Amino acid sequence: MPILLEKPKNVLPISSAYYVGNICIDPPVVLAPMADVTNGSFRRLVKRMGSPGLVVTELISTAAIHYGSKRTLEMFDVTEEQRPLAVQLFGADPAMMAEAAKVAVDQGADIIDINMGCWVPKVCKTGAGAAMMKDEAAACRIVEAIVKAVEVPVTVKTRAGWQYGQFATVGLAKKLEEVGVQAFALHARYATQGHTGNADWELIRQMKEAVSKPVVGNGDIKTPQDALRILQETGCDGVMIGRAAIGNPSHARRTD
Ligand SMILES: Cc1cc2nc3c(=O)[nH]c(=O)nc-3n(C[C@H](O)[C@H](O)[C@H](O)COP(=O)(O)O)c2cc1C
Repeated sequence: MPILLEKPKNVLPISSAYYVGNICIDPPVVLAPMADVTNGSFRRLVKRMGSPGLVVTELISTAAIHYGSKRTLEMFDVTEEQRPLAVQLFGADPAMMAEAAKVAVDQGADIIDINMGCWVPKVCKTGAGAAMMKDEAAACRIVEAIVKAVEVPVTVKTRAGWQYGQFATVGLAKKLEEVGVQAFALHARYATQGHTGNADWELIRQMKEAVSKPVVGNGDIKTPQDALRILQETGCDGVMIGRAAIGNPSHARRTD
């Protein structure tokens, strides 16, 4: 039996695009990376239903790529209709990250996104994910290695910082811009919060004011009205939709 995809009924009145390097993100709506959710099938579904300007893979282990894990290599699942597509990588070893970024580009990635937001102990104890925010010099070395290894733009998705109340991202982001990062997504919670509490959009406003590359706002955008509000209140360049797209992929949709 054919699957009928319902057409979206209400749409986001957002029309201004932003650029990641030379890649136009139009509309400025991004499907957030979500482990065990944003696989190839889900990304294709979201593109067909809502047509966001950018979709992102779930986080992919650079160590697993290094060791040639078949299951990990299948996670890329790049097809033309998903473009532009960002592949999100995590790891803490510059050489392995650079090698994995090249593999991702060979597999069709248009953008390499680096995970600096995952708070899960299994990831953080290796120095990857949000733990990267604790050592700015190491984070810059890793990012620089990736920027030098690939031709495509490199972006970073961060939290507000590690420890609750210590907003560290602006200082780090300025350094990351110097080593070539082309855009940021800020999940406006601290790593120690996990998904508890509310996202603090004021931090997104401060980040946008401080850096010159595009800033995508993320955290607790549940409706088209929320998306408009975060754009207006923070001046961010785009919106990233996570949990609201689960079970309703059309939440990440375009304007016309
Ligand atoms: C099930 C699930 C899996 C996630 N996996 C990732 C991931 O792989 N990489 C990442 O950077 N963030 C991940 N996140 C965080 C989301 O990308 C997003 O930052 C967070 O959910 C806040 O946005 P929201 O309020 O729109 O959901 C995940 C979140 C959820 C709920």
